[in-house]
Amino acid sequence: MKNTLRKFLLFLAIASFGTAVAQKQQAIPEVEALLKKMTLEEKIGQLNLLTPGGGVATGSVVSKNVEEKIKAGNVGGLFGVSGPDKIRQAQEIAVKKTRLGIPLLIGSDIIHGYKTTFPTPLGLSSSWDMNLIEQTAQIAAKEATADGINWNFSPMVDIARDPRWGRIAEGAGEDPYLGSQVAKAMVRGYQQKDLTNEATMIATVKHFALYGASEGGRDYNTTDMSRVRMFNEYLPPYKAAIDAGAESVMSSFNDVDGVPASGNKWLLTDLLRDKWGFEGFVVSDYTSVNEMIAHGMGDLQAVSALSINAGLDMDMVGEGFLTTLKKSVDEGKVSEETITQACRRILVAKYKLGLFKDPYKYSDSKRPKRDILTDANKNLAREAARKSFVLFKNENNTLPLSKTAKIALVGPLADSKNNMLGTWAPTGDPQLSVSILEGLKNVAPNAQITYAKGANISNDSSFAKKVNVFGPRLEISEESPEALLAEALKAAENADVIVAVVGEASEMSGEAASRTDISIPESQKVLIRELAKTGKPVVLALMSGRPLVITEELDLPVSILQIWHPGIEAGNAVADVLFGDYNPSGKLTATWPRNVGQIPIYHSEKNTGRPAPSEDFEKFKSQYLDAPNAPLLAFGFGLSYTTFDYQNLQVSKKEIAQGEAIEVRVDVTNTGAYDGTEIVQLYLHDVVRSLTPPMRTLKGFENVFLKKGETKTVVLTLEADDLKFYNGSLDFVAEAGEFEIFVGGDSNASLKETFTLN
Ligand code: BGC
Repeated sequence: MKNTLRKFLLFLAIASFGTAVAQKQQAIPEVEALLKKMTLEEKIGQLNLLTPGGGVATGSVVSKNVEEKIKAGNVGGLFGVSGPDKIRQAQEIAVKKTRLGIPLLIGSDIIHGYKTTFPTPLGLSSSWDMNLIEQTAQIAAKEATADGINWNFSPMVDIARDPRWGRIAEGAGEDPYLGSQVAKAMVRGYQQKDLTNEATMIATVKHFALYGASEGGRDYNTTDMSRVRMFNEYLPPYKAAIDAGAESVMSSFNDVDGVPASGNKWLLTDLLRDKWGFEGFVVSDYTSVNEMIAHGMGDLQAVSALSINAGLDMDMVGEGFLTTLKKSVDEGKVSEETITQACRRILVAKYKLGLFKDPYKYSDSKRPKRDILTDANKNLAREAARKSFVLFKNENNTLPLSKTAKIALVGPLADSKNNMLGTWAPTGDPQLSVSILEGLKNVAPNAQITYAKGANISNDSSFAKKVNVFGPRLEISEESPEALLAEALKAAENADVIVAVVGEASEMSGEAASRTDISIPESQKVLIRELAKTGKPVVLALMSGRPLVITEELDLPVSILQIWHPGIEAGNAVADVLFGDYNPSGKLTATWPRNVGQIPIYHSEKNTGRPAPSEDFEKFKSQYLDAPNAPLLAFGFGLSYTTFDYQNLQVSKKEIAQGEAIEVRVDVTNTGAYDGTEIVQLYLHDVVRSLTPPMRTLKGFENVFLKKGETKTVVLTLEADDLKFYNGSLDFVAEAGEFEIFVGGDSNASLKETFTLN
C-alpha cells in the first residue's frame, strides 16, 4: 500500500515536472496539438537532419535516398540544398506527401557571407567593429533566406589559442570578452530578434564546447581542461550567443571531461539548459553521434541513446537516431518523453520561423535577384575587408603608395581568384571575386603595374593535393621555381615599389587543415628574401587564415600588411588601403608567436610564481633558453599610417562598492599626418584574488575616428560584471581589493590607473 502510494506520488511528480518543462519550453498550442497526433516513428523522423550532397560535404558520408526518406516522414531538416525552387520542391514533398505535412528546416554553413563573401571571421574580428560585424551577418541572412535557407550553422565562437588549429580562421580569436561581443553581434545580425521576418534565419552557436582547445592544434583531437578555465576563458562566448537569443546550438566533435560533447549530459543538459536556461534545440555536428563509436563509447544504438538522453535533439547525417531510437524505446533505454521533448524543440523552431503558417516562406523566386550580390552588399564587403587588415610594419613609410607609381605586383596570390574567399565559403563563387591585380588596376588606373607570379604557394605536390580537395587552390606552375623568381626580379627592375602577395592558400587553414609548421612556405620565403635584397621598397600583402610565424620576414626591410582572406571584394579593398583611400585600423585578435614552440600563446597569461625578468635570462624563472616569452605580435596590435598618443588616464572613482560600475577616461590624440581610426583598448588586472589572476585581460574597447591633430576623450565603462570571475566554486563573483587598469592601442598598453573594490 505504502509503495503504491509512493509510486503514485512519484508519478504525479514526474507528470507535473514533465508539464513544467513543456511549459518552460514555451508550450505552443499548435505544436502540442501536433505532438499529440504524432507516432513515435514520426517524432524520431523529426530528429533526423540529412544532406543530399552536391554541395560541400564536410565528412565522408552523404545522405542517400533523401526524397524517399522525406516522404516516409523520416526527415526533420536538410542542409546543403539551396535555391527557392529546389527548396519549394523539398517543402512540397514534406508538406504534401507526408501524413502530417510538417515542413523542413533548411540549414547551411554561412560562415562569412552567403554569395557576398566577407573576410574570414578571424579577419572580420580584427575590425573590432561590432556594428559592422552585425551588418555582415544581417546581409548574410538576407541573401541566404532569399535562396531558401532558414537556419545557419554560425556563429562559430570557439576560443582558439593555438594557431596550428586551422579552424582558428573561423572564429574571433583568443579572447572571451571580444569573442562574446562578436558572438552577440552575429546572433543579432542573423536573427534580428524576429524570426518571422523573411530575411532572418536561426543562428547556431557552435561548436559546443571547447572545440578550439584540441590538443596540439590537431583538428578533432581530445580536449581537457579545468572547470575554472572552461568557465572563465572558453565558455563565455557560447553563453553570450545564447543570452543574445541563438535558437540552436551545435555540439562539438571533441570530448569534454572524457565524454564526447554530443553525448555529454553535463554539457548539454546540466549546464546548457539547467544553468543557462537555453530553450532552443541542439544539433550534433556532422556524424558526431556515430563518431562516438570510434571515441570508444559503444555501438550505434548505445551512442545514439547516450546522445538523446544527454540532451541532443537532432542527429546530423549519421542516421543513428533514425535507425536505433525506436529499439531503445522498446528496450526501455530511452523514454518516449525524451523523444517527444526533442521533437517538441525542433517543432518549436519551425513554428518560430513561421513555417507552419507558410512552408514556402523562403521560396520566393523573385528574391535572389533582388537581394543577392547587390551593389550595397558588395560595398559592405569592401568596407569589411579594408577594416579587417592589420598593418604590421611600414618600413620608411613606404605606404600609402602613389596612384601613379610603377608597381611590380608579384607573388602566387596576386592574381588568384580561387583563394580570395578564404576557407568555409562554399556558397560563394570565387570566380566573382576581385583579384589583387584587378583591384589595383580598378583603384589606380594610372599606376603602371607589371605582374609576375614569382613563386608557387608551395613547391610540395603532396601538400598541394591535400590543400586542393575542394578544387585548385595551390597550383604548382609548369615553370621552374628559378624561372618564376627570375620573372619577378625582372618585373621589379623598373618598379618604384614591389608589392608581393604571399601567404596561405585559402584551404591551408579551416577544417581539417591543421599545420605543425605555420611559417610561410619555403618557396615563398625564397621569393621574399630575394625581393628584399633588391633594395627597392617592398610591401608584403600577407594572406592567411591564422596567425603565422613571420619572425624572419618581420626582420627584413619590408612593409607588411596582413590581409587574411578578404572575400569577394579582396582586390578593391587591398588597393583602397595600399593607396591610402582607407587608413588601416585593424588590430590582432589572436597573438602571433615567434615560433611554434611558444604555442599556446595568448595575452591574458598569468604571472606564475617565477615570472621571467623583463630583460635577460635568469635561471629558475619561467622562460625559455632559446626564445623570449613575449610573442612576435601582441594581441590588440596593429599600426596605422598615422600615430596616436594617449594621455590623462582617469577613473571616475578611486573606490567603488560591489555592484557599482566605474568610468575610465582617456584623451587620445591623432599625432600623425593622416586621419584615422584607433581601437582604444582597456585591460584589467585583479591584483589579488582567490584564483591566480591573469596579468591583464581585455575588458573594453572602442573604435575612435580622429582627424589629424584631433584629440577626443574616450570614455569606457567597466560594468560591475567586468570585475567578476568564476571562482573555485564556479560562482561568478567580484572579490574586494585593488584593481589595475591599462589603456592603450594594444595589450602591451602602459598607461596605468588603479582603483579599489570595497
Ligand atoms: C563542421 C561544422 C559544420 C558541419 C556541417 C562539420 O564538419 O564541423 O562546423 O557546420 O560540418 O557542414
